[in-house]
Amino acid sequence: MLTLRSVTVSPPLLLAPMAGITDRDFRLLIRRLGGCGLVAMEFISAEGLLRRNPSTLRMLHFVDEERPISIQIYGSDPARMAEAARQVEAMGADVCDINMGCPANKVLKGCAGAALTGDLPLARAIVRAVRGAITLPLTVKFRLGLRPEALTYLELGRILEGEGADAVTLHGRTASQQFAGQADWSHIARLKEAVSIPVIGNGDVRCAADAVRMFRATGCDGVMIGRASLTNPWIFRQAAALLEGRELLPASPDERRTLMLDHFREVIVREDERTALHKLKTFTGWYTHGLPDGRLLRRRLNDLSSAASVIDAVEEFFAATATCPPQPWPSTPRGIAAAENPA
Ligand SMILES: Cc1cc2nc3c(=O)[nH]c(=O)nc-3n(C[C@H](O)[C@H](O)[C@H](O)COP(=O)(O)O)c2cc1C
Repeated sequence: MLTLRSVTVSPPLLLAPMAGITDRDFRLLIRRLGGCGLVAMEFISAEGLLRRNPSTLRMLHFVDEERPISIQIYGSDPARMAEAARQVEAMGADVCDINMGCPANKVLKGCAGAALTGDLPLARAIVRAVRGAITLPLTVKFRLGLRPEALTYLELGRILEGEGADAVTLHGRTASQQFAGQADWSHIARLKEAVSIPVIGNGDVRCAADAVRMFRATGCDGVMIGRASLTNPWIFRQAAALLEGRELLPASPDERRTLMLDHFREVIVREDERTALHKLKTFTGWYTHGLPDGRLLRRRLNDLSSAASVIDAVEEFFAATATCPPQPWPSTPRGIAAAENPA
């Protein structure tokens, strides 16, 4: 069991924060499918929050059904980060997370995100200020370091523990690797030995069995899953079943159809037509990855110019495949990386 102060993360399987993806609708979908102990919001700029930037404030919307929910903030000024964390606490989040892993240039230039793995005194000052400002569980998510020849994660982990972080999440890549190569889980095991607060492992969990393998290989206290949840939103439920020694049930075509249409109806209600169309096409690509004839549907979507017509096409696709037997979900396509938003 993973406990962060008064918050129990059960099962200890966490949805990774993904900018442009883990919005309210996606978080709710994951929560309703079951098996996920903590969902995370897209990362939030501390400055955007404090300056009441409308697009930042819009992202901060969540509902009770999502709980427990973690809100991740990023920034480089300790006092501003502390103020942002106070606001995160005031808006009722269950966990406040600090991003020290984003390798996007615009974030690095502002000396935030993964830049903090290269500036440990500043990382310490930020966590100290934030810890002093809130009583919420505080977690920090980071990478191995800026470059393979400058791995700082062990020292950073010890600093964060000393400053009162309640848990740390390690993505087993450096910032310079972006999403290339393979996440190296041996570092997660090393961090687990170096600190006594809970360690959450992250990186390249592509199927439910991978989550179990990560627990066994690293001794970590929780497993965080990102990209694989896009092609297989059931991965949490499946991993939870495996952890309990239960049988894995593949999703039936009908379950997939229901999942997609429920998600899309929420998107259509909340988003403007252009954003909705973009989201529906993107998610259809992920949700139908590896399905027989999924490529035909994806090709057809290229010509559609309204969200309603995408929904019709999805309905027709599933009507035509209604007789197919349940299929295991495929593993994550390697293409889903940081192309859209490299964090
Ligand atoms: C499109 C996209 C957006 C992301 N946004 C964030 C973010 O906002 N904050 C963060 O800490 N990590 C972010 N990440 C990194 C993920 O949280 C996770 O660490 C990474 O994808 C590795 O895990 P995975 O192999 O399970 O996907 C993002 C990743 C992707 C692909």
